[in-house]
Amino acid sequence: MPPWWRSAVFYQVYPRSFADAGGDGVGDLEGLRGRLEHLRWMGVDAIWICPFYRSPMTDFGYDVADYRDVDPLFGTLEDFDRLLTDAHALGLRVIVDWVPNHTSDQHPWFVEARSSRESPKRDWYIWRDGPGTGAGGRPNNWKAAFGGDAWTWDDATAQWYLHLFLPTQPDLNWRNPEVAAAMHDVLRFWLDRGVDGFRIDVVQGLTKDPTFPDDPPGQVAVHAAVNDCDDTHAVLRGLRRLADAYDGDRVLVGEVYLLDTATVAKYVGNGDELHLAFDFTPLYAPWDAGAWRRRIEAAEAELGAVGAWPTWTMSNHDNPRLRTRYGGPEARARAAAVLLLTLRGVPFIYYGDELGLEDAVVPPERVVDPGGRDGCRSPMPWDGAPGHGWPGAEPWLPWSPEPDTRNVEALRADERSILHLHRRILAARRASPALHAGAWLGLEAAPSVLAYERSEGGDRRAVVVNFTSTPADVTLAGDWDVEVDSAGVAEGTAFTGRLAGDQAVILRPAGRGPG
Ligand code: NOJ
Repeated sequence: MPPWWRSAVFYQVYPRSFADAGGDGVGDLEGLRGRLEHLRWMGVDAIWICPFYRSPMTDFGYDVADYRDVDPLFGTLEDFDRLLTDAHALGLRVIVDWVPNHTSDQHPWFVEARSSRESPKRDWYIWRDGPGTGAGGRPNNWKAAFGGDAWTWDDATAQWYLHLFLPTQPDLNWRNPEVAAAMHDVLRFWLDRGVDGFRIDVVQGLTKDPTFPDDPPGQVAVHAAVNDCDDTHAVLRGLRRLADAYDGDRVLVGEVYLLDTATVAKYVGNGDELHLAFDFTPLYAPWDAGAWRRRIEAAEAELGAVGAWPTWTMSNHDNPRLRTRYGGPEARARAAAVLLLTLRGVPFIYYGDELGLEDAVVPPERVVDPGGRDGCRSPMPWDGAPGHGWPGAEPWLPWSPEPDTRNVEALRADERSILHLHRRILAARRASPALHAGAWLGLEAAPSVLAYERSEGGDRRAVVVNFTSTPADVTLAGDWDVEVDSAGVAEGTAFTGRLAGDQAVILRPAGRGPG
């Protein structure tokens, strides 16, 4: 039996923005629990919940002050346990976000490390004397991901500490075995509670080049010296051994932010590191048939060469939503959903993409994120009433456009909606071994069109996506019926070979009847 996650569709929940039970305008775990039915109805298999741990929220939870507790903003550990129980009862797996590269500067580990150079936890973080103090005296020229230098001077102990992100996010020293042991305990804490796995933050940066060389001149953020250091693979093997010691195929999904698929592929090791690695090269591909075809073929070849199972992401909490990035009408977002959910591997749906949400327009006075990512983190609109299902205070960020009509309740009432389209694709995917497990084969098509076949045993499907707003014709070998139509009109009819602009279809061999 292949592990559950190979055929799974994941759904990413940004908990601040998903659903608010407490009425303070910030989403919480009880809110999410109350909305699990939406996810089950749509037909996803698993959810990834972004960080909900105790945090000062300088990076909205990616600055963790206690890995073993829920921030009061999101609820309590008991709320989490209830959420997990209910999700499992509905057949939904749950993975949680784990942030191992750095802690908050408020984490007791860092508070202790910072208290003196003699602190037993001093070496849990990365301290350097540097050639001097003050600007220009830094240990090297590394820049932090959100701007500024990657080193901050600690006056009390007269040393620099490293932070790849904000100064409030000091980097842990994964070369210290005590750090690994403490972090393994954190993983066990959540695995013992029953989580189905982890999404792991910033995998590529976990260990640093021990010589701390300068980055090449002109480089804007730390890369070469920090990312993709060989020693990280030993760290991952330790994590994998830990996860594999549990039953139930717990899964490790790593954020490997290296925009090269062949390099990402190294992070599954010989089947003894990550189970799944995010490959973000497709996320940054333009909406263009040729560009996507090249990205898919690279994934097929480069991940395939090492036996890695692909992942597919078109939106997340760090980037503009797919509808905003690709532009164009909703029809284009519908075609993108067909593509995302029919490639070989594990797709991740970002909350709200099933509604065709665009980024919110965030006026300057409401900008809160240091990385400028507020637009894609807008609150999920649940209905058309004022408040859109958020019961109390105005949500922490503005709504995406059209919340009166573009909300869960309205789209669920409309069988032609993009939400129903997601549900139909997911049902077709679940029922077809070709779609959820099969091989991928590119087919000949006009330059504006991407066509491919999926097959597993005797099961076959073809997928045709028109990337432009101009109608296009395709000639496929054999006769096919339309199983799912992104426009929602041709389902159950024979495929004519003509696609409208921005249309995508899932086809099955003709004459086999429904199902
Ligand atoms: C990647 C996360 O996705 C992002 O939201 C966060 O700011 C950085 N890692 C730092 O933890």
